[in-house]
Amino acid sequence: MAIVEKADRIKNLPPYLFAKIDQMKGEMEQKGAYIIDMGVGDPDLPTPPHIISALQEAALDPKNHCYPSYIGMLAFREAVAEWYQKRFGVSLNPKSEAITLIGSKEGIAHIPLAFINPNDIVLVPDPGYPVYITATMFAGGSSHFMPLLKENNFLPDFSAIPEETLKKAKLMFLNYPNNPTAAIADLSFFEEAVKLAHRYQIVICHDAAYTELCFDGYTPPSILEVPGAKDVAIEFHSLSKTYNMTGWRIGFAVGNQDVIAALGQVKTNIDSGAAQAIQIAGITALRGDQNCLTEMQKIYQERRDVLIKGLKEAGIEAVAPKATFYIWAMIPPGSTSTDFAARLLTEAAIVATPGVGFGKSGEGYIRFALTVDKERIAEVVKRIKDLKL
Ligand SMILES: Cc1ncc(COP(=O)(O)O)c(C=O)c1O
Repeated sequence: MAIVEKADRIKNLPPYLFAKIDQMKGEMEQKGAYIIDMGVGDPDLPTPPHIISALQEAALDPKNHCYPSYIGMLAFREAVAEWYQKRFGVSLNPKSEAITLIGSKEGIAHIPLAFINPNDIVLVPDPGYPVYITATMFAGGSSHFMPLLKENNFLPDFSAIPEETLKKAKLMFLNYPNNPTAAIADLSFFEEAVKLAHRYQIVICHDAAYTELCFDGYTPPSILEVPGAKDVAIEFHSLSKTYNMTGWRIGFAVGNQDVIAALGQVKTNIDSGAAQAIQIAGITALRGDQNCLTEMQKIYQERRDVLIKGLKEAGIEAVAPKATFYIWAMIPPGSTSTDFAARLLTEAAIVATPGVGFGKSGEGYIRFALTVDKERIAEVVKRIKDLKL
């Protein structure tokens, strides 16, 4: 034990629900089990070579060895603005409406510090990426959960949020394509969200980390395509999943210039910006040949199809998602998601994430990440069928 007690904000963190799974995984590994891990959303595919070459070259230049700018290189932000124009038809001023992040998680974790005073409310999707809740807690705020239910296509029902809560809310996190449900949102949903944010003066923080992992000809929109969105919204983006760069830590936020500036103010006092060589590699990723992305989409789509077909045959209900590399499958009745995940691990050496780990409304589901190859997914299917659920 440390000689000083931990701060309440650490002590009050929600229990680490994956701890049990991690421990069991370790025990299974010690026994020599061949574990197939579909738990973590970290791409198994390498960063495309032309991006690596750009980093190698940039790393040799002493200009890139010093502290970077807090808000990011203008050249990177210009590449972001160009990419947004091309991809979404959204115009951005790279000087004021874009900021470089050390991965989108960094920006998501810091944004409540810019707007949340003790007891302020943040609207948070349930289930959702856990950082929305912990970042809110660290800023002293409290989360109001917006359940994402199957009957609402895993979109929040804004009409279910009490008027008083809406009046007090300062921020709202949204995330489409969604982790963990793999649900998508169309522009009419974003229009509704923007209208609500205007009416109640709420900043929307849209987490768009998965917009490029899409299938079947579907291309997810940006919330910034909605007229007037820039008055109330910012969008977090990441190169992590789009270009298999999770380890490089590079992302960005774009949108409302005052919100972007406030995030910049927090960052100025906490970190010293993303490494320049990595931003230069990021420019190459955003401006370069996008064939790598098409190839990657094809690979995930094939994996998705193998798993969905197999789960169906095994009697597990799951819809083939149009985006993200997650499968949100319903667990057989009579078991909790944690127990079912434990059973998959101990009886079939498969790691998948229990839905409840993402929030109360995630109970009844299990999440598979398509981050292992097709052959191993076929093996996963075989093992699940052998369980005779
Ligand atoms: C929904 C969501 N948002 C943000 C992130 C963070 O990504 P990064 O910090 O690598 O940009 C993740 C990573 O898994 C995620 O699932």
